[in-house]
Amino acid sequence: MAQTQRKILVTSALPYANGSIHLGHMLEHIQTDIWVRFQKMRGHLCTAVCADDAHGTAIMIKAEQNGITSEELIEGVRQEHMSDFNDFLIGYDNYHSTHSEENREISSSIYKALRDNGKISVRSIVQAYDPEKEMFLADRFVKGTCPKCKAEDQYGDNCEVCSATYTPMEMIDPRSVYSGATPIEKESEHYFFKLPDFQEFLAEWTRSGTLQDQVANKLAEWLDSGLQEWDISRDAPYFGFEIPDAPGKYFYVWLDAPIGYMASFQNLCERTEGLNFDDYWAKDSDAELYHFIGKDIINFHALFWPAMLDCAGYRTPTKVNAHGYVTVDGKKMSKSRGTFIKARTYLNHLDPQYLRYYFAAKLNASVDDIDLNLEDFIQRVNSDVVGKVVNIASRTASFITKKFDGQLAAQASEAEMIQSFIDAGDLIAEHFENREYGKAVREIMRLADVANTYIADQAPWVLAKDEATLPKVQEVCSVALNLFSILATYLKPVMPNMVADAEAFLNKELTWENRSELLFGTAINKFKPLMGRIDQKQIDAMIEEGKQEAELEAQASAGNTVKEEAVETELSKEPIADEISFDDFAKVDLRVALIAKAEHVEKANKLLKLTLDLGGETRTVFSGIKSAYKPEDLEGKLTVLVANLAPRKMKFGLSEGMVLAAGPGGEEIYLLEPHDGAKPGQRIM
Ligand code: MSP
Ligand code: ZN
Repeated sequence: MAQTQRKILVTSALPYANGSIHLGHMLEHIQTDIWVRFQKMRGHLCTAVCADDAHGTAIMIKAEQNGITSEELIEGVRQEHMSDFNDFLIGYDNYHSTHSEENREISSSIYKALRDNGKISVRSIVQAYDPEKEMFLADRFVKGTCPKCKAEDQYGDNCEVCSATYTPMEMIDPRSVYSGATPIEKESEHYFFKLPDFQEFLAEWTRSGTLQDQVANKLAEWLDSGLQEWDISRDAPYFGFEIPDAPGKYFYVWLDAPIGYMASFQNLCERTEGLNFDDYWAKDSDAELYHFIGKDIINFHALFWPAMLDCAGYRTPTKVNAHGYVTVDGKKMSKSRGTFIKARTYLNHLDPQYLRYYFAAKLNASVDDIDLNLEDFIQRVNSDVVGKVVNIASRTASFITKKFDGQLAAQASEAEMIQSFIDAGDLIAEHFENREYGKAVREIMRLADVANTYIADQAPWVLAKDEATLPKVQEVCSVALNLFSILATYLKPVMPNMVADAEAFLNKELTWENRSELLFGTAINKFKPLMGRIDQKQIDAMIEEGKQEAELEAQASAGNTVKEEAVETELSKEPIADEISFDDFAKVDLRVALIAKAEHVEKANKLLKLTLDLGGETRTVFSGIKSAYKPEDLEGKLTVLVANLAPRKMKFGLSEGMVLAAGPGGEEIYLLEPHDGAKPGQRIM
């Protein structure tokens, strides 16, 4: 059943370059990657690109806090993101950056096309301005007292207490979160994309089958209430691309972010023979274009983006696929609960294919949230993958190896059952195509149950005891291994490494097309366990590491000066902890400590291991100061230890106290030093 080869370009949303990849992001990249691997396996020409989204104020401020340039920050983060994806077996054909020459060029040319088509307007607006930092302040970067209910510490656009909406300058006592300065009002020219001109185009486009119904319905509400012009410019200082005909004005990050999809693809075309940019992006392109995104960024992809593309003479997406949010054990991912799990933290404890399988089993084509229930996760992976699928091979392979020198039977009965496994591939393919991975997985597991029942009924271990029924053992096990190879084919997009091992063991490269070419009269290689069970301990250790990371992050920001603290509070929205009495505070036993030894900790990004001398007593403390200090520079120095802090078991060992440090973070963390002449062990205060 040869089909025509489709040309498909696939993207995932571009992660911001100011933070680590977490399991929420991973849902999207896993969803995309399964779809892409499936299409490739079916013989289509499918290309997947992504990139880091590197522009905007948040990135600029973060770089400033870390004392590095924005360019340095985004390149470091890009490397980190790429290795996270790689280790999760996410196989992008290109992973680029929106801060690239290709993106600058395409963004400029699209902007010029919009302008030349009369779709850009320019007018002055009044905005809050930080006179100390000399920059305009978006509403969320101003805090103050609500003019209506007088609640303090509210954001500059609305009150979380009484829901009043207002402008930053209408607040009582407004403050810039960057500097604490009182903002002034300042006027400047902004550039707008005339979205209302696309009302009719979008009303039709959003109903043309490119969107999920749920999404189209939501957008219809927006469209009905009328579209607004979209502000696409920001004033300097801003990390981004300067607008071609407007010095000092920059493209708003969301203008050049989706163009980053084109830029990443363009960058790939430049070094790939036969891949042509226009084939995929020209208005008359016969290629398919798929965007995978989260539900929070639908308006950017289903309103602004198609309008821009259409106006600038490009094709629009074939489909925009929105998914829901990841929750952990039914709740929003949370740093303090340890469930804001970074991709790397997960990888430190678990095989990525477990999560790929679990997300696949739960994913469908809707925008509903996906819950990672940790108990269910263990149970499902262990019982399905290990207990059902791998079990088919592990129960039968050794008979073939030991009794038949690795040779599969030349032929076998059960043609009907085998054929039903092959036929199921059409339905399973349809499910994958429609992003109904959960349905695909359920069908695969239903077949796995059939295979296991067959093996149990035939009981090759009983047949093997009798010389006369030995040929039957070879036949049964060969049938089972054929069933296994068909199921492995279907699971290949989900669990690529496990299936690669299965391919090595079966001596066959598995494709959708060749699943009907059965393995009879061929040899298999020795079976090695394909996948082990998840142990509760691994999950516990992962959550514990998540908690410790959150604690270290909180520690690293706790010592910030007032200025930076304002930003940290703003970005992390951590409320100030409950008040303590002076007596509580006086319980803290601060002691002078001599750093006798300082060492790197293997595999720890932020920690140094300190051996402290308290004038006779020795303590070991793990401290998150690696970014600021070389171990050799610390040895022999005096510092201050919280000596009566309860010891804490960390991944790397027991930490017996905490040394005090302050600073904005990165290279700028300063260990407190006691006064001259202080003696190790002496109490301070
Ligand atoms: N940079 C923009 C996207 C630009 S696309 C041209 C952005 N970045 S993001 O890092 O905040 O999010 C990237 C993707 O991850 C988005 O699709 C977002 O919906 C998704 N997710 C972020 N947190 C998520 C969960 N907790 N759960 C599922 N997906 C989530 O938005
Ligand atoms: Zn209020």
